[in-house]
Amino acid sequence: MPAITLLGICGSLRKKSLNAALLRAIGETLPPEARLVEFSALGEIPLFNTDLPEEPAAVTALKSAIREADGVVISTPEYNYSIPGVLKNALDWASRPAPSPLRGKPVGIVGCAQGMSGSMRAQYHLRQILVYSDSPTLNQPEVMIPQAHERFDQDGRLTDESTRALLRRFGVAMIAHCARHAG
Ligand code: FNR
Repeated sequence: MPAITLLGICGSLRKKSLNAALLRAIGETLPPEARLVEFSALGEIPLFNTDLPEEPAAVTALKSAIREADGVVISTPEYNYSIPGVLKNALDWASRPAPSPLRGKPVGIVGCAQGMSGSMRAQYHLRQILVYSDSPTLNQPEVMIPQAHERFDQDGRLTDESTRALLRRFGVAMIAHCARHAG
């Protein structure tokens, strides 16, 4: 069993999501000491509302998964120059009540888009959001993949070798980032 567990969270609920494919590709290119497990219940998280009588099961699952992971990798699409509402909603849930499992948790931000943005504006918004939870975010290498539909095949498998090399570097940097901020 690899020593380091990274929790992958994808901001897109689409079955054929390119950002989900990107997360999978990161999992496949990690060094042997690390593994990536994907959080698959983002779509089950209801809209944030403190009037709800108890914490929804999917929220409890998300918080436990974050707590248990050594680090979190968030793959976000760009929706209208920001992150998707489903992802912001999940982060709002994860942030309350204090102490949030995101506090001090090492996070890596990645994303891709079919256009030229590579999701960069969304990623900088996400970086800003994670300042509140005091989550140390990995700065480099930035993984902002433009024209992503040309880099994955119909089954979501990565076909572009320069992207694979970037993801390998990201994985190594993410492991070092987790070690720097462990505990
Ligand atoms: C988009 N898309 C998009 N792309 C971009 O580069 N900048 C943007 O601001 C937006 N805005 C936007 C809003 C909405 C509501 C949708 C549905 C789409 C395109 C988007 O990045 C593209 O469809 C990605 O492929 C979505 O990611 P997944 O689902 O493939 O992971």
